[in-house]
Amino acid sequence: DKGGYPFYMEKEIMEQPRVIGETVKPRIKDGKPDFTAEGIPDEMLASCRRICVIACGTAMHAGLVGKSLIQSLIGIHVDVVMASEFMYNDPIVDKTTLVIAISQSGETIDTLEALKFARKCGSPSISIVNVKGASIARASEYVIYTNAGPEIAVASTKAYTTQLAVLYLLTARMAIARKLWSDEQMKEYMEELQRVPAVMEEVLKSKEEIHHIADTMLNARDVFMIGRGLDYSILLEGSLKLKEISYIHSEAYASGELKHGTIALITEETPVIAVVTQDKLKSKELSNIKEVQSRGARVILLIKGQEELEQEKIWSRIFRLPVMKDEFMVMPVSIVLQLIAYYVSLDKGLDVDKPRNLAKVVTVE
Ligand code: F6R
Repeated sequence: DKGGYPFYMEKEIMEQPRVIGETVKPRIKDGKPDFTAEGIPDEMLASCRRICVIACGTAMHAGLVGKSLIQSLIGIHVDVVMASEFMYNDPIVDKTTLVIAISQSGETIDTLEALKFARKCGSPSISIVNVKGASIARASEYVIYTNAGPEIAVASTKAYTTQLAVLYLLTARMAIARKLWSDEQMKEYMEELQRVPAVMEEVLKSKEEIHHIADTMLNARDVFMIGRGLDYSILLEGSLKLKEISYIHSEAYASGELKHGTIALITEETPVIAVVTQDKLKSKELSNIKEVQSRGARVILLIKGQEELEQEKIWSRIFRLPVMKDEFMVMPVSIVLQLIAYYVSLDKGLDVDKPRNLAKVVTVE
């Protein structure tokens, strides 16, 4: 049942406010994150010296957001490793390394094998899985389920944002286990997390505006997506989404790295999506954007809030994102990027839910 939408992907995009709520709400007690139902001991969150996230594709991109959160708000070193590469790089994991395996299906063989390897090395482990009772859930010490419900479209949307929701909760629980935040800081963070569904609804109401943005990319051969920090992490996911369902070559690039070679590829024909949501990075991001504009690129700007921009005319499109605290901005941005990929694929007349060459569950290494 596609819920009246032409494709499951659209239905699943639209479901996000609800399933984020269903993932977050049961894990809040007295305004604080709570994993008693999962049995996760605070001692484990307090004692690890580093964290290693193993995952593939979209789930790995969720891990990258988790890394930013945990490093900046908790101060523990986090590595995010592609599960398919994990064992071939002589990984250094031991009982002081908390391993977090992230997987929608819970059956991705690379992730499963990497997790088993880490457990043999003595690492404590938590998995974040969507499908109840899946192999990865069974192979890890503790499991936190994302309550996204079945995800049918091959391109992951609601599984990704619910994985993020769990990572926000886990970060806050780590702060409790390690006695790091003030009551005030905890309260503000948890209130912001609970505001995510409403903010997502707000973005979903701008569907048609986003559809018009997508239209400008229909005939593009290449698309670039640029940003720094968390904006870069979310663009990696947005770019994967566009590639897999629209077959347009797309690259997410850290804005500051462009001028070290890749900017040579940017021409007047290249749409560039630039995301600017992090206050402390804003002036640098805007000056990197000027560099691509001076190569003639048509820049689509996704920017937080209503701030005035010089020369509104030089932008191909501007989308104003609802305002959240910086560390939560990936949530509204991810909806915009999912919808862009969706509409490009839809308007090209492609099979959005079943892109060529891809399978929903990858059980070969
Ligand atoms: C992309 C996508 C894939 C999966 C990856 C891991 O939209 O869905 O990149 O994220 O194959 O799958 P899971 O999460 O099932 O381990």
